[in-house]
Amino acid sequence: MDLLETLYSTPAGKAIARKAGLSDPPVLRRGRVMPAGPVVLAELGRAGVVRETLGLLGVEPAEPLLDVPDARTKDEKGREQPPRYPEKPGAVIIDATGARRITELEGLRQVLRPIMRGLESSGRVIIVATDASAVDGLEAKAVAQGIDGINRTVGKELRGGATSNLVYLRDAAAAADLASTMSFLLEGRSAYVSGQAWRVGPAERAHDVLANPFEGRIVVVTGAARGIGAAIARTFARDGATVVAVDIPPAGDALAGVANEIAGSALQLDITSADAGERLVQHVARVHGLDARIWAVVHNAGITRDKMLANLDEKRWASVLDVNLAAEMRINDFLLSSDVPGGLAEEARIVGIASTSGVAGNKGQTNYAASKAGIMGLVWAMRDELAGRPITTNAVAPGFIETEMTAAIPFVQREIFRRTNSLGQGGKPTDVAETLAFLCDPASGGVDGQVIRVCGQNLVGA
Ligand SMILES: NC(=O)c1ccc[n+]([C@@H]2O[C@H](COP(=O)([O-])OP(=O)(O)OC[C@H]3O[C@@H](n4cnc5c(N)ncnc54)[C@H](O)[C@@H]3O)[C@@H](O)[C@H]2O)c1
Repeated sequence: MDLLETLYSTPAGKAIARKAGLSDPPVLRRGRVMPAGPVVLAELGRAGVVRETLGLLGVEPAEPLLDVPDARTKDEKGREQPPRYPEKPGAVIIDATGARRITELEGLRQVLRPIMRGLESSGRVIIVATDASAVDGLEAKAVAQGIDGINRTVGKELRGGATSNLVYLRDAAAAADLASTMSFLLEGRSAYVSGQAWRVGPAERAHDVLANPFEGRIVVVTGAARGIGAAIARTFARDGATVVAVDIPPAGDALAGVANEIAGSALQLDITSADAGERLVQHVARVHGLDARIWAVVHNAGITRDKMLANLDEKRWASVLDVNLAAEMRINDFLLSSDVPGGLAEEARIVGIASTSGVAGNKGQTNYAASKAGIMGLVWAMRDELAGRPITTNAVAPGFIETEMTAAIPFVQREIFRRTNSLGQGGKPTDVAETLAFLCDPASGGVDGQVIRVCGQNLVGA
């Protein structure tokens, strides 16, 4: 349990915590829940794609207020204030896809200033820009990256559980390609994702955004007996999936518990065994029928064997790299190269789990950081490798998530990890699960080769 949450749950505790200068971590809006207040859309210059995307989602956008001299008011001390919305917006979306010049960045400032203190709690800033690869000229490319600097800073300055994220559109991406990302960012599913930027391009195949996107689809989740894996299994089942829950035999009872709870199937399998891929498809064909195909594989199983490098032997080194990276690659290789009963569907999703340790490195985790950075390299390379096939490969990089794995971290260090992010708290397994489900959504076909951090904008590597 989060120490500050515990303190703030009683009046006496609240008084002590406030005196000690410890602020109350905001309760985040989670799940498939839209913002309560209006969704404001600001279009800078050439625009249209974001408005069309909101139309696909059935969202009627409101007009923005701009911080221009004429719109300002004065407070009781005569100081100029930005204009105030009559009702706190739930989200402010900026279509900056037309921004090419440095002077056009002023448009973002004008939209953002009035809402920096005026968004509802767990509100959203969502910026959509054109990817640097799709614009010409040095100034336009610099501006594209400049927008990410704005996004990351806004994420750090917002309060009350509000987040800021940036979506870069690759060449020819249309509203239908952007819709699943927009839906994810607006809803509580993206609660612990902030300060992030990812790219959306044209999907190989179009799918509508649905509330039950995995209905009739099989999703494999490794390491599903507990922690993040169990949350992933539950989230995919909530969204309609038939889940094949995989874990090692010693975790068999817990695994059966998760599988039964969500009416999925359980497979006791050590993913490092040489024939893991084969045994997986045989299980799917046997239990779910010869026509069954795997829509998505969620490579979640992972281990740590932490030691400072000065004390790290070859056994700890090899086991972490084998479970966290090599096993995933062997299973992918088998699934991608065999068209067999119970195998991978022609259109499919493959997702892995990296870590902020892989992004930034972490003392005592050379082996783990190698494996998790390796997952990122794998995802980036597979996008090219699988070009032309309607299969996407993505990963999430969780920061500090409250699980049995992180409960083992010494208390003081744990408290530091919890507080050193823009949302002032650790994430929940469901936050990682929601992001993976978004990446595996049939409607997310335009999101490929991306690594999304689920870390509340952790300072580590941010
Ligand atoms: N908890 C965090 O803060 C955090 C942060 C970053 C990344 N991650 C990653 O998220 C994933 C899940 O983490 P968690 O905290 O839920 O861990 P956990 O230890 O609670 O759960 C991991 C599960 O994987 C299973 N597993 C381990 N080796 C396996 C094997 N060879 N074959 C099949 N199953 C195996 C375990 O039995 C366990 O059920 C891991 O990849 C981890 O590295 C976690």
